[in-house]
Amino acid sequence: MIRLGINVDHVATVRQARLAQLPDPVEAALLAEKAGASGITVHLREDRRHIQEHDVRRLIARARTKVNLEMAVTPTMVRLAERLRPQDACFVPEKRQELTTEGGLNVVAHKRRIKDAVARLQGRGIQVALFIDPVREQIECAKDTGAHGIEIHTGSYCNVTGAKRARELRKIVAGTKLAQGLGLEVHGGHGLDYENVLPIARIREIVELNIGHSIIARAVIVGMQQAVREMKTILARARR
Ligand code: PXP
Repeated sequence: MIRLGINVDHVATVRQARLAQLPDPVEAALLAEKAGASGITVHLREDRRHIQEHDVRRLIARARTKVNLEMAVTPTMVRLAERLRPQDACFVPEKRQELTTEGGLNVVAHKRRIKDAVARLQGRGIQVALFIDPVREQIECAKDTGAHGIEIHTGSYCNVTGAKRARELRKIVAGTKLAQGLGLEVHGGHGLDYENVLPIARIREIVELNIGHSIIARAVIVGMQQAVREMKTILARARR
């Protein structure tokens, strides 16, 4: 069965909106594991807009599955990841103004820097994947960096419909076959939801999907009735 990594960043987004203690992304992660998640993914962004360093530390201490740290390839983040030592890391491009990761890493343009960072983290026992678009040159270059695997950016597929989506899917299929043939482990992620995931999950070469926004969004909706009932029960007690 394909592995499902749950990205809990947006639990922290809600917490940070109030600079409060709750909701706790680690608590959400442990519940995700109870429901069958194969791993927990967090993106420790340089601007710390959602996940904080202490979240990653607590998550690594408490998760029973594996922690996948998404990170920019900067000297500061590489040093931090060496200290934190998650099981997995995924190198992503990062721009401060973006709402979420836009596009894959340009491995061809930054090969030397990425290769050095891969070696440093893999030297600490961390498996490294590179988040890239399904483009031949990027995949071949990812192999040259010594990375364990790649995470195919599925955003371009998710953001379009009809014939355009079919074309993006074909690119992903070709990219995953190429990557697997080169001996890279293949993951996928970004923009996947309950409606668009199936064709991606059917690609045999993909062994892991990392999904965040759609699952956190769904959890808010399916959890709403219970949350309201719990408050009503307390209020009812006050007038008994
Ligand atoms: N994979 C990577 C590399 C990402 O940057 C993200 C978003 O943080 C995801 C997966 C999850 O994307 P989404 O929240 O759209 O499911």
